[in-house]
Amino acid sequence: MFKLVLIRHGQSQWNLDNRFSGWADVDLTEQGKAEAAEAGRLLKAEGYAFDVAHTSVLKRAVRTLWGVLDGVDQMWLPVITDWRLNERHYGGLTGLNKAETAAKYGEDQVKVWRRSYDIPPPPLDRAANESVSDPRYANLDASMIPDTECLKDTVDRVLPYWHDVLAPAIRSGQRVVVAAHGNSLRALVKYLDNISDEEITELNIPNGVPLVYEFDENLKPIRHYYLGDADAIAAKMAAVANQGKAK
Ligand code: 3PG
Repeated sequence: MFKLVLIRHGQSQWNLDNRFSGWADVDLTEQGKAEAAEAGRLLKAEGYAFDVAHTSVLKRAVRTLWGVLDGVDQMWLPVITDWRLNERHYGGLTGLNKAETAAKYGEDQVKVWRRSYDIPPPPLDRAANESVSDPRYANLDASMIPDTECLKDTVDRVLPYWHDVLAPAIRSGQRVVVAAHGNSLRALVKYLDNISDEEITELNIPNGVPLVYEFDENLKPIRHYYLGDADAIAAKMAAVANQGKAK
C-alpha cells in the first residue's frame, strides 16, 4: 500500500484579512506557523516520516512545509519547489476582500469565481501582472504565466506534476509530503477521487491539517482522511466556505 500526505498551508495574513491571494506571496500569521508546527507534531506522533517533500514557490506553503519537517525532525530532507503547485491564480480579484466583493457583486457571483470548475475570475491586465517579471518564474515561457485561472486551468498544470513527478515517486516507494494550497489541492483531489465538476464546488480544504491518501498498487485511492480532531477540522472547512459571504 502507498501513502501520500497533503497539507494546505496554515493561516496566511490574507486568510486572516479575508483577501483573495492567488499568486500573491503572502506569509503565514503566527497562527499559521502554529498550525504547521502542530501538523508536524501530529505526523511525528502517528509515526510518519518522509523521503522527499514538494511545495509551491509561495512562502506560505514553503514555510508550512518547514513547520511539518521540523515537527517530524527531518529538516534535512530534499525539498522540491515548483510553480505548478501554486495556488490558483486569482486574476483581478487578487488582493480584494472576499466579503466586500460579495457585498458588491453578490454571494452567488463570488461563489462562481471561487468554486466553479471552468469560469475564471476577471483577468489581470498583463501590464499589472507582477509574476511576468518575477525572477522565480524566469524559467517559464511568459505564455505559461496566467493572468487568471479557473480550477480547470489549475488542474491542467497540477496533473502533469502528479503524473510526471509525484506519482512516479510514490510508485517507486518514496514517502512523499506535499505542502500546497486550497485550490491546487482541490485540483489534485478532484482527479484522485474522480469528483464531478458539480461536486467539487462544495469541497473546501482546511488550513494546516494533514490529509492522508492511501493507494493500491495501481495508485488508485483506497481511502483518505485528515489527521486531527474531526470537529475542529469540520469547523475549519466551514470557515473557508463562509469566507465568500457578505458580512
Ligand atoms: C486564496 O487564494 O485567496 C485562498 O488561498 C484560496 O481562496 P478560496 O478559498 O477563496 O478559493
